[in-house]
Amino acid sequence: MKKLIEVSNLTLGYEGRKIIDKLSFDLYENDFLCVVGENGSGKSTLIKGILGLIKPMNGKIQYNDLKQKNIGYIPQETTVSKHFPASVYEIVLSGTLNSVGLLSFYNNEQKEKADNALKKLKIYNLKDKSFADLSGGQRQKVLIARALCATSKLLILDEPSNNLDYNSRKKLYEILKELNEIDCISIIMVTHDLDHSNLIGKHLLSIKEDDFYYGTVENYVKVIHHDR
Ligand SMILES: Nc1ncnc2c1ncn2[C@@H]1O[C@H](COP(=O)(O)OP(=O)(O)O)[C@@H](O)[C@H]1O
Ligand SMILES: [Mg+2]
Repeated sequence: MKKLIEVSNLTLGYEGRKIIDKLSFDLYENDFLCVVGENGSGKSTLIKGILGLIKPMNGKIQYNDLKQKNIGYIPQETTVSKHFPASVYEIVLSGTLNSVGLLSFYNNEQKEKADNALKKLKIYNLKDKSFADLSGGQRQKVLIARALCATSKLLILDEPSNNLDYNSRKKLYEILKELNEIDCISIIMVTHDLDHSNLIGKHLLSIKEDDFYYGTVENYVKVIHHDR
């Protein structure tokens, strides 16, 4: 199986302080990798490293057939404020800016991308609504549609289900499963939701100081998780 990302002996941190030390794992093409760990263990730090927002202190991250700017990213706490005065369409369209830099207008190709992403997430009917008027679950779909405009290969979601109720959460996982299995998009998802990881994740990375687990979700849930 082809590796999209190879992380080897990676150390990440801030101002000389190590947060993650000597971490190695791979992300396979069409994988669904769940990243778990306690608050403050360095999950978001790892995501920042993969996106190139912080530089490794040691070790390396190798990308095969993938550019960092072609990763679709849904941050932990949305940078798009709940009250941001923009329409759903404007927010989704802005996801296409990754590939062209700063333009003040959009071409047809970009508009088509945004339309397709809205249809894929089944929120085309919300196109002209204000982002501020949406429910949490709808907002999350808009942000996924936006991220889809930037990628056809890899989506990274940082704790996407945090503020969702059980039903919205279930729907979110169905969407992600479909994107992974039908559209063959690889997914990295930071989550606390082990029950659902077990159902949709393929591999799991658990971060705990320098005590890492990387392997199948199945093995983690059956063997490792119960021993801790
Ligand atoms: N920009 C930053 N500068 C310095 N320390 C940071 C910064 N961002 C996060 N940290 C620290 O790094 C550690 C890991 O944070 P984070 O990666 O956000 O954890 P998690 O996402 O697992 O909750 C925490 O101790 C946090 O305070
Ligand atoms: Mg985090």
